[in-house]
Amino acid sequence: MMQGSKQLTCAIITGSSRGIGAATAMRLAAAGHAVTINYLNNTGQAEELAREIRAAGGRAFPFQADVADFTQVKGMVEETVQRFGRIQIVVNNAGFSQHCTIDHMTIKDWDRSVAVNLSAAVYVVKAALPYLKKEPWARIINICSLRAMTGSSHGAHYAAAKSGLIGLTKSLALELAPNITVNAISPGYTNTDMNAEALATKGDAIRASIPVKRLAEPEEIAALVAFLASQQAGYITGETVNANGGIYMQ
Ligand SMILES: NC(=O)c1ccc[n+]([C@@H]2O[C@H](COP(=O)([O-])OP(=O)(O)OC[C@H]3O[C@@H](n4cnc5c(N)ncnc54)[C@H](OP(=O)(O)O)[C@@H]3O)[C@@H](O)[C@H]2O)c1
Repeated sequence: MMQGSKQLTCAIITGSSRGIGAATAMRLAAAGHAVTINYLNNTGQAEELAREIRAAGGRAFPFQADVADFTQVKGMVEETVQRFGRIQIVVNNAGFSQHCTIDHMTIKDWDRSVAVNLSAAVYVVKAALPYLKKEPWARIINICSLRAMTGSSHGAHYAAAKSGLIGLTKSLALELAPNITVNAISPGYTNTDMNAEALATKGDAIRASIPVKRLAEPEEIAALVAFLASQQAGYITGETVNANGGIYMQ
């Protein structure tokens, strides 16, 4: 239920115009948090989501920023503090995958993947840390991937960046304890635009390969984020929670 004008906390969710990020913004807003809806290109979808949240009594604003650009990230953090007065939760969710083998990967491809899928989390944490430290307790949640564990035969840059995010999660958890917990979530195949092409061409084979025989819905990943973002999750830090329908055991 929305909290109306009395917002308990504020969350920044990167990459929340659609997919897992949008479901997370909805979920955290419903739990009473004011939310910053970050996006790269899709102004329409981000504004629509913000309208939906406001119509339900929550507080939200869309903010366009390339999370791979530290200056833009600092602008997003400062604007969030201007509007909501505080930041208690950071969800580093923005990311993208690119289907290519090492033979076809350019150095520019590598640099961009590492910038968006790994360095961006550092930028957001660096910019938000002074505000997170003012809170009695705060949360950082990094959205990782099954590929961090399995590797990828068609996206070494993505898998390497996501593996780096696990090391970053553990290191920040050690550094920022006790008041700030830092955790990661590693989704498997999730029903978002990121998989649209693969699902169109080999959806049946993908579903058959997953023990629970379906993809995750973004709302299922958002529910995990909401738990790790809650006060009750304060004894969990430095962990990676896997949500992959059992495919990693195959
Ligand atoms: N879907 C899966 O199967 C899956 C599995 C494992 C892990 N993940 C991870 O989960 C996260 C969310 O994935 P998703 O499937 O929800 O993705 P998605 O549906 O493709 O949405 C990606 C979101 O990230 C934003 N974004 C991309 N690059 C950005 C940048 N440089 N700066 C700011 N925002 C940026 C997009 O904004 P625009 O709308 O403006 O483009 C969009 O809101 C990613 O980190 C992904 O690696 C996904």
